[in-house]
Amino acid sequence: MDQLSPYEEEFYPDILRGLSTYFDSPFVLNIARTAQRFRRPDLAHALNRKQIACKTWLIEQLISAYGPSYGTIWVLGGWYGVLAALMYENPGISVSKFISIDVDEGCAPVAQSLNREQVADGTFETLTADMHTLDYASGTPDLVVNTSCEHIKSFTGWFESLPKGTRLALQSNDYFGEPDHVNCAASLDAFKAQAPMSEFAFAGELEQKNYTRFMLIGRR
Ligand SMILES: C[S@@+](CC[C@H](N)C(=O)[O-])C[C@H]1O[C@@H](n2cnc3c(N)ncnc32)[C@H](O)[C@@H]1O
Repeated sequence: MDQLSPYEEEFYPDILRGLSTYFDSPFVLNIARTAQRFRRPDLAHALNRKQIACKTWLIEQLISAYGPSYGTIWVLGGWYGVLAALMYENPGISVSKFISIDVDEGCAPVAQSLNREQVADGTFETLTADMHTLDYASGTPDLVVNTSCEHIKSFTGWFESLPKGTRLALQSNDYFGEPDHVNCAASLDAFKAQAPMSEFAFAGELEQKNYTRFMLIGRR
């Protein structure tokens, strides 16, 4: 990335730190610090309004479906830990622990920076691993979240590796034009067919500018 002038370097961090003071928000301050430390272009994608809207939608529907209290949540394809940061920020939901799991080793330090207080108190951990290789039966997560279903090569194999009855919150989309999207779903019904749950607590779609996001909450 090109060298920034001191003025450019401080432009957005200054604004974000001002907002964090005004709103008294560790969440905004962590975004300011993380954006300054990690200049990964897709960090802006992870925090854009579409990504935030999809994750806020998940939190709202999860509370409606299964209430406000959770034990350990595994977030697969957890990317930069934005969902965990949003849940910790939300007074309407309590989670005893997050494990954010991503195959890309570059994600962990960014996710830890975005959830720094929870790293310090032991309620947020990262794991660099392929979700296809995890032992879901012995890990016994209270909830498994996968908002990266469109990225999963062996979706059926992964889904079948989950113990029956596992609580799930899954998202996918119909954004076929993105090269990394190897497992899009053309419709909500197609996504339901990919992930045949024994219990559907929620199934819905959220229109975005270039695609529709689908979500299923229920049990394997
Ligand atoms: C672009 S991001 C997330 C997009 C999604 N809309 C969201 O916000 O959750 C997809 C993430 O899935 C991760 N990923 C893809 N395949 C994976 C796998 N088999 N196991 C773990 N993580 C995986 C990628 O490394 C990437 O960080």
